[in-house]
Amino acid sequence: MTLIDLKNINKTYGKGEAKVEALKNINLKIDEGEFASIMGASGSGKSTLLNIIGCLDEFDSGKYFLENNDITKHKTGKLAKIRNKKFGFIVQHFALIDTYSVYENVQIPLEYAGISRRKRKKIIHETLDRLGILSKINKTPRQLSGGQNQRVAIARALVNNPDIILADEPTGALDKKNGDQLLDIFKELNENGKTIIIVTHDKDVSDKCRRKITITDGEIIDSNFSVNSKDI
Ligand SMILES: Nc1ncnc2c1ncn2[C@@H]1O[C@H](COP(=O)(O)OP(=O)(O)OP(=O)(O)O)[C@@H](O)[C@H]1O
Ligand SMILES: [Mg+2]
Repeated sequence: MTLIDLKNINKTYGKGEAKVEALKNINLKIDEGEFASIMGASGSGKSTLLNIIGCLDEFDSGKYFLENNDITKHKTGKLAKIRNKKFGFIVQHFALIDTYSVYENVQIPLEYAGISRRKRKKIIHETLDRLGILSKINKTPRQLSGGQNQRVAIARALVNNPDIILADEPTGALDKKNGDQLLDIFKELNENGKTIIIVTHDKDVSDKCRRKITITDGEIIDSNFSVNSKDI
């Protein structure tokens, strides 16, 4: 089933001489269960595209169908609800709150979704356990390593059980070992039915994804399935 269907999406930033055409006429379909990478140089429009997919950002023209529903004209509040339910976001620098414990950080999306305290506790314990960081539950981000914080960020993205995981340069702040472990976690999540889209400029990372979407200067120039797909 087609999960995400972008039609002729255009996005500009700024005006006059400062105007930047960040995305030009983007057409992209993503099916349920895909494991895709969005590759491209710095400034090519990867984050802009991911943020539009994740309903974090508006676009100037074009249409967005999510599970065959036209959400192009949805209001901010309605989009925020869809975002919290459907998407789990992981960003490069984790975006964790330093003064919160691991538990409190991971709890945020569950609070938004109005989940009871008892249920929140159960879900958080299960998710941290699955990611191998349950022993860190009362620590704060500064007391953890980069790889551990990235797992906390993944836990936070997973607690609402979203169908789609969006990750912007998830391995950017990690060494090779932690980056590889992170990709293994994504692979496992994908095998368990999650659709995964990873933004990266690292070829090693995109080679591990089943589909490579390449973007240059705001245009998709290639969105084929990787020839290596059977190797992973
Ligand atoms: N808020 C903004 N205001 C103005 N221009 C912006 C804004 N955000 C992005 N841009 C511009 O839009 C273009 C695409 O930016 P985007 O962040 O999507 O690139 P990217 O591929 O994610 O780059 P990187 O690999 O460096 O993260 C760039 O030219 C950038 O300067
Ligand atoms: Mg970016």
